[in-house]
Amino acid sequence: MNIHQQKILILDFGSQYTQLIARRVREAGVYCEIHHWSCPQEDFDAFAPQGVILSGSPESANLVDSPSVPDHILRSKLPILGICYGMQTLAEQLGGKVEGSHKSEFGYARVEILGVDSLLSGLEHEIVDNERQYQDVWMSHGDKVTRLPPDFVCTAATDSAPIAAMMSNDGRIHALQFHPEVTHTKAGQQLLNRFVHDICKCERLWTAVNIIDDAIAGVRKQVGKDQVLLGLSGGVDSSVVAALLHRAIGDQLTCVFVDNGLLRLHEGDQVMEIFAKNMGVKVIRANAQDNFLGKLAGVSDPEQKRKIIGNTFIEVFDAEASRLVTKEGGAVKWLAQGTIYPDVIESAKSKYGTAHVIKSHHNVGGLPENMKMALVEPLRELFKDEVRRIGVALGLPPQMVYRHPFPGPGLGVRILGEVKKEYADVLRNADAIFIEELHKSGWYDKTSQAFAVFLPVKSVGVVGDARRYSWVIALRAVETIDFMTARWAHLPYELLETVSNRIINEIREVSRVSYDISSKPPATIEWE
Ligand code: XMP
Repeated sequence: MNIHQQKILILDFGSQYTQLIARRVREAGVYCEIHHWSCPQEDFDAFAPQGVILSGSPESANLVDSPSVPDHILRSKLPILGICYGMQTLAEQLGGKVEGSHKSEFGYARVEILGVDSLLSGLEHEIVDNERQYQDVWMSHGDKVTRLPPDFVCTAATDSAPIAAMMSNDGRIHALQFHPEVTHTKAGQQLLNRFVHDICKCERLWTAVNIIDDAIAGVRKQVGKDQVLLGLSGGVDSSVVAALLHRAIGDQLTCVFVDNGLLRLHEGDQVMEIFAKNMGVKVIRANAQDNFLGKLAGVSDPEQKRKIIGNTFIEVFDAEASRLVTKEGGAVKWLAQGTIYPDVIESAKSKYGTAHVIKSHHNVGGLPENMKMALVEPLRELFKDEVRRIGVALGLPPQMVYRHPFPGPGLGVRILGEVKKEYADVLRNADAIFIEELHKSGWYDKTSQAFAVFLPVKSVGVVGDARRYSWVIALRAVETIDFMTARWAHLPYELLETVSNRIINEIREVSRVSYDISSKPPATIEWE
């Protein structure tokens, strides 16, 4: 079976929701890729999709140089679904009209479904009022379609957007002013399912089991009998790569796990337990704590710390890798990496000069550029939620797969200023208490990232009858979808009280605990 045989092309016009569209299509069990809106004919022909979805955009569709759907795609006779800007550009390009509006519509809207098409009629969550059908949907637009193109019918309406959806008379082109990809549009997933299954005729081939089988076959074909090396961090992506490669090529895989002394409590042992002991993966543990901490001594600038940690990682990894030789006595040829689809999209965007480089520092823990190895990247096509799903299907413990993200420089950016072993030990213990209480209270899964931060300032406290003059711990917990913006988590006071009491009572070196109530922006999630 070829799980890539049936697929959807998503043309990206720059909407913040484009990746969400792709994730919904994948959830419908259909492979899809995001391409720049200008997608040339050769790329389109090579990809050979069964249908096309046009994303939204911050642009206006009625200007001279507005981004538009390439003519070869409009002529292709494939089913097309335009979303928001996607609808507006279709209207403009096909002979209708789009106008700017003084009143932008943002948030929930109730659209009347006019009952003339099979995409919108009879969806779940339909509200019937006075024999008329409605859906609650999510709108986010300023411009709107004010005249239908010839041979189109209006399929849904709101008071402020009388043409809220439209369809070509032959049923091939559909367009929506609202966003089916966001969960606020309750019937959105069902609507997208209908488009990809009923209209584009794609089957559900994109399932966790099929993705695993396909990736295994791909890796075996790619590396043959060669040895493969993987830097295992214990994070989700590298863990799933390890599990997948182990299943695909068994003993041909060697993982290097670098313990930099900046990991969370018992983290190194847990990684060894899961991979080496339980799964039988070959893992070399490089105990490089002294090396890292030695190099960090006396350094307090955050960027310099990041650089030192990144470079030392490369040195240690390189040293371990160069000790490995193949049976024939040669060097290992393949290096596995946990690159995932959003990374691929970002680098493709930079090709078009449209990338917003917000997190240039996030490549810490990247691998030696001078290592002359070819790459094996079995997760390149997958979104994070798909990586997690196949991780569980491969037998990784769900608590590992659904763990909050942990930055490459580890506790190095959570100990403000100079990093010392005694600080790291205090922080590890405080962090473990916080995380344990979050789990116990059910709040771990309701937050996107939570951790403790070590503040190297001393504060006075009184414990029992004794005065205590020691360090301060800050707690940080945030809710976010994309980690670009985040809201501080409104944890219950009782929970914060329990955590604070436990930290001060159980850790002698801490006299005070504070809770960080800054959102991002302007604050970042990490303190450094
Ligand atoms: P900030 O602090 O930039 O963090 O709001 C956003 C997300 O990125 C993680 N982060 C990093 N991850 N290397 C990484 O691998 C880094 O240097 C780094 N700095 C921040 C942070 O934990 C959060 O999830």
